Amino acid sequence: MKDWGFRTIIEPFRIKAVDPIPILSRHERLQALQRAGYNLFALKADEVTIDLLTDSGTGAMSARQWGALMTGDESYAGSRSFEHLRSVAQGLLGYPHIFPVHQGRAAERILASTVLYPGSVVLNNTHFDTTRANVEQVGAVGVDLPVPSAADPEDRSPFKGDMDVDALDSALAEYGDRVVLVMLTLTNNAMGGHPVSMANIEAVSARCAEANVPFFFDAARYAENAWFIHTREEGFENWEIRDIAQKVFSLGDGCTLSAKKDGIVHIGGLLATRFDDWADKFRNSLILGEGFPTYGGLAGRDLEAMAIGLLESLDADYLRYRARSVAYFANGMEEAGIPVVHPPGGHAVYLDAGRLLPHIPPEQFPGQALAVALYLEGGVRSVEVGSLMFPGSRLELVRLALPRRTYTQAHVDYVIEVAERVSERAQELPGLRIVHEPPFLRHFSARLEPQGPGFGA
Ligand code: F0G
Repeated sequence: MKDWGFRTIIEPFRIKAVDPIPILSRHERLQALQRAGYNLFALKADEVTIDLLTDSGTGAMSARQWGALMTGDESYAGSRSFEHLRSVAQGLLGYPHIFPVHQGRAAERILASTVLYPGSVVLNNTHFDTTRANVEQVGAVGVDLPVPSAADPEDRSPFKGDMDVDALDSALAEYGDRVVLVMLTLTNNAMGGHPVSMANIEAVSARCAEANVPFFFDAARYAENAWFIHTREEGFENWEIRDIAQKVFSLGDGCTLSAKKDGIVHIGGLLATRFDDWADKFRNSLILGEGFPTYGGLAGRDLEAMAIGLLESLDADYLRYRARSVAYFANGMEEAGIPVVHPPGGHAVYLDAGRLLPHIPPEQFPGQALAVALYLEGGVRSVEVGSLMFPGSRLELVRLALPRRTYTQAHVDYVIEVAERVSERAQELPGLRIVHEPPFLRHFSARLEPQGPGFGA
């Protein structure tokens, strides 16, 4: 595989369509914050200069994908676009049964509602929040088994997304027949976006085969995970990325996949399996909730864009640029004086607000204080992943997710400059207090109030 021998990262594409971004005055940003109750989810996108809230559905489609939209076949049943998607997905995943869905959580809902039952158990390296919610919705129990290093932002191990295999053995022994499914989330978004190694996937696969328990992937970021196996795991340096991804999928029995990430589409997802009996259940549930199995909640044109995006994200030049951009971003944040979670993953930089703002106790949400400060200083939108999102959380993080192929290095440099200014007066930042709290998933709609004048109100 060819190497990029230069210090400068270049975006491996040129720009054909532009989308202007809003630039606001500090006063306008302060007003927007006050209206939003210091909750960045309540901002209008027109009030955000650099939007790093998520990498989901926010990527830029290629000219090929935009072109393919016009060729989409909108037939209700047996659409040509479905055949295209099915052939690409079967080639990549190796599973015979491929179901399109409108996004990842639809696949999770179908899987959970058809194969789980009250009291059954799902084991995962770490459930993403929608996965956990769907498991719990049917009365099943989701158990997280991350390796201990995942909880230490300073630990530089290459595969902190791995599942703790000893803990897996104990859980299989403890829960016995109640374990209906084992999952690995590639990459582990909820704990820092760390990848899972091939060695770990093989070990988990072997345990599942021994215990006769089905093994699925949450494959939202399968391409980024494959890139880290290629660059960080011995024995894979000469492998093509696509071959690594195929080997990963060959070790499981199926997957849920939010194509809004490594599928590089604005909407879409997949549910796939090698089990004929599960496929029958999925098909029936799909018809009930999503649509006919050959379109699954999407338009034919969406299926075309997904078929192309699923393979574009495996391009080595693109993945090298993406991983280096995230690493460059993390390094810049650290040089700006903001501690980050190590090592950087593939889709986001996670800031350690707990370490930056030791004067703000967890009950006053240091992560939210940092996220608010980044917005006020430069219109940068991020998301708190700490005590506000997960009450009782051990870490107080802020996630800056990079949409795919969307922002340039200059945008990243700008965010680093904004962070420098915030870091210079970090000790003046006040904590926040919740003044309105919804009954569940409070981070989406809570209203907050600063506990001091530090935001310049
Ligand atoms: N699994 C993982 C690992 C995810 O990160 C997400 C979404 C989903 C499943 C659900 O997929 O959104 O298509 O329904 N993550 C987004 C994020 C929301 O910002 O990290 P979806």
